[in-house]
Amino acid sequence: MNVSIIGGGTIGSSMAIPIRKAGFRVRVTRRNTSSLRELEEYGIEVSTDNATSAGWAEIVIFALKPVDLIPQISKIREHLQGKIVISMAAAVPMSAISRSVGSAYVVRAMTNIASRVGSGFTPYSLISEDAEKIKLTEKVLGALGRAERVEERYMDALTALSGSGPAYILTIIEAMMYGGLKVGLPRDLALRASYQTVMGAAKLLAESGEHPSALKEKVITPGGTTIDGIFELEEGRVRTAIMKAIEASTQKAIKISEAMFMQ
Ligand SMILES: NC(=O)c1ccc[n+]([C@@H]2O[C@H](COP(=O)([O-])OP(=O)(O)OC[C@H]3O[C@@H](n4cnc5c(N)ncnc54)[C@H](OP(=O)(O)O)[C@@H]3O)[C@@H](O)[C@H]2O)c1
Repeated sequence: MNVSIIGGGTIGSSMAIPIRKAGFRVRVTRRNTSSLRELEEYGIEVSTDNATSAGWAEIVIFALKPVDLIPQISKIREHLQGKIVISMAAAVPMSAISRSVGSAYVVRAMTNIASRVGSGFTPYSLISEDAEKIKLTEKVLGALGRAERVEERYMDALTALSGSGPAYILTIIEAMMYGGLKVGLPRDLALRASYQTVMGAAKLLAESGEHPSALKEKVITPGGTTIDGIFELEEGRVRTAIMKAIEASTQKAIKISEAMFMQ
């Protein structure tokens, strides 16, 4: 099974390696391919020719900027007929993709950069029911980590929460590391302690099935050290700040979509 990724930038090239490792033949395109050489070490083909690459594949993934998506689909439309076309673009609704693509099977997905190491979260929506095509879509997107079918109306919010989410979590990890530096830890040790703690807390949460508050309570012993840290976080309104970040980012996705498709 051949998969072409049109647009080998941050997300396109992140997706290529896990999809290749899942057993698909993969080709990645962009206009300037010099930064894609490392992909060739994984047996991934690199090209500047979108039309030929789309023609070669059964599944065509578009990882272009939202503004480039519809114009580029239109240019190679004849090579997309009957295929699975997956858009990774924020803010572009399936109805618009479907109008420009003709008779292809349209999927709208939203992954994040953790897909590079097979730990992405990839919600996706489908234009229609087709058991065979759904199975293939799940196999490709499942290679990126956890893939979950959702209603399209949740996509802008998920773009903000999990698509942009690594940037928020990396900010938190950086802040934890700086906290470590402030109290005299060596930089490497502070960084490792920070990211391993974030990974561990997330794994515990996922595997225990417990609510975050319940797990948090287990760390906070009365009169202990953690409650003093939590008190500072509450005073800094950290939870409010993160909630506002996700709300603002969702509003931006909605605004971009409206600017492109509601004139
Ligand atoms: N970055 C993230 O963390 C993230 C997360 C979730 C979703 N997304 C979505 O993923 C999409 C891509 O974002 P990105 O961050 O990966 O952007 P990006 O790094 O700018 O990648 C876009 C790529 O498209 C290539 N490109 C532009 N025109 C092309 C054409 N005509 N033919 C082939 N390739 C072309 C560009 O390379 P050349 O200039 O060399 O052609 C560039 O490498 C966006 O729609 C975004 O909403 C991104």
